[in-house]
Amino acid sequence: MDQEVSSMIVARDQFLSWNMISARQSDWTDSTSAAARYSFFQARNAIYHSLGLLGIEPGARVLAPSYICRAAIDPLIAYGVEVDFYPVTRDCSIDIRDLEGRIKPGTAAVLVVHYFGFPQPLQDLRRVCDAHGLALIEDCAHVLSGEVEGKSLGTIGNAAVFSWRKFLPIYDGAELVINRPVRQVAIQWTSEGGLFTLKVAANMLDASLGRTNQPLLKVAYRGIRAGEVMFRKCANWHLRKSPMMQAETTTSVFDMQCVNWPMSRLSRWTKRHSNIGSIIAARRRNYQTLLEELSSMKRVTPLFSSLPSTVCPWVFPVLFADLTDAHVSLRRRGIPAVTWGGVRHPQTGPGKFSDTDFLYENLVFLPVHQCLRDRDVVNIVRTAKELYVRRN
Ligand SMILES: Cc1ncc(COP(=O)(O)O)c(C=O)c1O
Repeated sequence: MDQEVSSMIVARDQFLSWNMISARQSDWTDSTSAAARYSFFQARNAIYHSLGLLGIEPGARVLAPSYICRAAIDPLIAYGVEVDFYPVTRDCSIDIRDLEGRIKPGTAAVLVVHYFGFPQPLQDLRRVCDAHGLALIEDCAHVLSGEVEGKSLGTIGNAAVFSWRKFLPIYDGAELVINRPVRQVAIQWTSEGGLFTLKVAANMLDASLGRTNQPLLKVAYRGIRAGEVMFRKCANWHLRKSPMMQAETTTSVFDMQCVNWPMSRLSRWTKRHSNIGSIIAARRRNYQTLLEELSSMKRVTPLFSSLPSTVCPWVFPVLFADLTDAHVSLRRRGIPAVTWGGVRHPQTGPGKFSDTDFLYENLVFLPVHQCLRDRDVVNIVRTAKELYVRRN
């Protein structure tokens, strides 16, 4: 169940907000001077290809955090490496000494996650990786932009992986940045057919117009839905035959069939024209409101008690003391809250790392999406408060 709702938090994050799309190409560019960049359909595909491009052979070992979405682990296993897990503390930080003690003969890389857009300190980890000859892969799937120790996120690792679709009003889209090239690998890109472009367009419009309150747009939405039904009938043969036409972006499953899919044309266009500055500002404002309101509650503890000026949050991670399954109660009341319990990889436990078990069970993600209105955020706060009122 959590897996479905976890996809929902991403799906909800995908509706188009036209005020955040500018007619001109956005002047947002990363400050990374990367050796190579590759755009993928999803970040999990980028993780898979990072290994080959870093010269890591199947059979090698990769250290990965025990608290993570399985979509980041399955591509490693599919590539053929052995995954060893290192523990993550209750505040989502890493014990570098412990991690170093887990390096074995054959360990070739360390994967590190900047949870929810908040940076992990990397200086010490970089030093450990260099000392042992390991590649460092920054998992920036929760990062739209940010810095650590004066450097842009995604520039310290040998490779970095981003998942733009978690932030931008797009159907698909991720990026692999290779900062320290080791090897040239020609990716056998799957080419995007016209029908798939139409499917992406229909999904993006659907996500956008399905939420509108404007009568004219509602009519347009109904028209699009009717067109979609016709389209599905006509394209039935293609739908059944083509994996691309059956693609789903709302699950945590890694599918080898999709591994060479590029980011779709429309998603690239929308990314280029997105107003990144206003998306960051809106997400920060929503986060700040939740922080101010929820911090005043005795039994509610935000994972991060402040919002550093360079962080763009993906979600608002928070602990609700004395409540079991707070996320389920919130969802029953209409708030799309999730935990990572439903997308946990079987190899991470339970029972292996107690803090990690705690996080999977208790750390709740609340939405901070740029399209939330002030009254939506107020409603999240009110609903969270009600969880305790009803219990007392
Ligand atoms: C930490 C982390 N890495 C990688 C991924 C995979 O991203 P994508 O869904 O774009 O494949 C996720 C998905 O939620 C994630 O949370």
